[in-house]
Amino acid sequence: MSGPQVDPASLQHRPAPEPDATDPATPWSAGIRRTADGALALAGHDLPALAETHGTPVYLLDADDVRARARAYVEAFNAAFADLAGADVYYAGKAFLSVAVARWVHAEGMSIDVASGVELATALRAGVPAQRLALHGNNKSDAELTEAVTAGVGRVVIDSLAEIERLADLAAAHGRRVPVMVRVTTGVHAGGHDFIATAHEDQKFGLSLRDGAAREAVRRILARPELELRGLHSHIGSQIMDLAGFGVAAKALLRLRAEVADSDGVLMPELDLGGGYGISYIGEQAPPRPQEVAGALATAVNDACAELGTPVPHISVEPGRSVIGPAGLTVYRVGTVKPVTLDDGGQRLYVSVDGGMSDNIRTALYEADYTAALANRRSQAPIVASRVVGMHCESGDIVVRDVGLPSDVRPGDLLAVPATGAYGRAMASNYNMLPRPGVLAVTEEEVRFIVRPETPADVMALDLG
Ligand code: LLP
Repeated sequence: MSGPQVDPASLQHRPAPEPDATDPATPWSAGIRRTADGALALAGHDLPALAETHGTPVYLLDADDVRARARAYVEAFNAAFADLAGADVYYAGKAFLSVAVARWVHAEGMSIDVASGVELATALRAGVPAQRLALHGNNKSDAELTEAVTAGVGRVVIDSLAEIERLADLAAAHGRRVPVMVRVTTGVHAGGHDFIATAHEDQKFGLSLRDGAAREAVRRILARPELELRGLHSHIGSQIMDLAGFGVAAKALLRLRAEVADSDGVLMPELDLGGGYGISYIGEQAPPRPQEVAGALATAVNDACAELGTPVPHISVEPGRSVIGPAGLTVYRVGTVKPVTLDDGGQRLYVSVDGGMSDNIRTALYEADYTAALANRRSQAPIVASRVVGMHCESGDIVVRDVGLPSDVRPGDLLAVPATGAYGRAMASNYNMLPRPGVLAVTEEEVRFIVRPETPADVMALDLG
């Protein structure tokens, strides 16, 4: 049942790092520890007991960690922009939104970026004032735009020329004036994987600087009194570790802002630089800290404005992953364990768990890296080259492509996969008619589902026969 022993130092088959809140590269949430008896615990609650009571697979969310990360961004941006024109931090709800999460991040001072009618309704249901919400989307429906207008959202981010007239007409029909920003594609391309880089030219988002569409959008918005042009917006990608791209994008936006001020006499008061700050998935690299992000952006914006001779705008940003991602983890129960002989004669241990690509599509979709650790016990068995796979009927159903696991991993064990708080539950599916796992929020005082697990009856109820 065991594969060959491998060099644990080799990157590919490295075991998950042990939880260590002092390690800036840790992939684990701040509240995770290994207890004296060898199990993992979150905020003092043993994972085996949580799994027993609440079932697997289950997403755990370290609620205090989410709040601390939200607070850290708000404080860092407030500090870095205090002597400039101030800053707002929007939580990008697409990473994972629920009423509880919206309340936590709002209580810590964040606004919220929503990207659909239901995300908008969820933030409103949480009691977040509409004024603190931004609506995004490259294909917003009339219903979504109408909801945004009637609720009075703080901004609608315009993503096409056609949207300008549609939104202005809706605003007129409701007797409202709607604050808008223009999403600009700056040509800056950053991030871990091509599919999640959103500001290069050949893609669906935004209005291009290069072909003049962004400039034209500004002209058309200024011609519609129902719209109030607040500023320009750019989002350059996701899972970004090197902050340089934000400065390049900021400069391009600020140049357009200065041109509009010169030609139309309108100085837009705001600038949004999007989200995309990377996190640690496997413990290999320390991500930028909120103070570093805020400091780098403040310097870039300040320098560019000085060069252009324009006043510094109010800044906003939209982190999602870096607020919620590291605070989440997924707990699975191990089923089949199978050594497989590879073409080169080596062996890999295939460890099947009770979820898979339906609760984490990121490995299959982006070749994302994750790690996994035994969560119910400590093992002294040798580390072997392993792959954590799901229970779905396709070979690409991989949760963790390469990880070192103890050779005695066996059915009934629990595996914890860290850093699944962002784009895990948010992108989950019912593939193979699996009910989607719930999200269990854990603090020292309280353990409760903030999104309940689906049941087989939920899934079957959609089928009308
Ligand atoms: N703002 C805008 C306009 C965005 O499009 C996004 C992400 C964000 C903010 C937040 O980016 P974050 O800070 O979370 O990286 N599903 C992919 C990520 C797609 C992100 C799309 N937009 C993933 O699982 O990696």
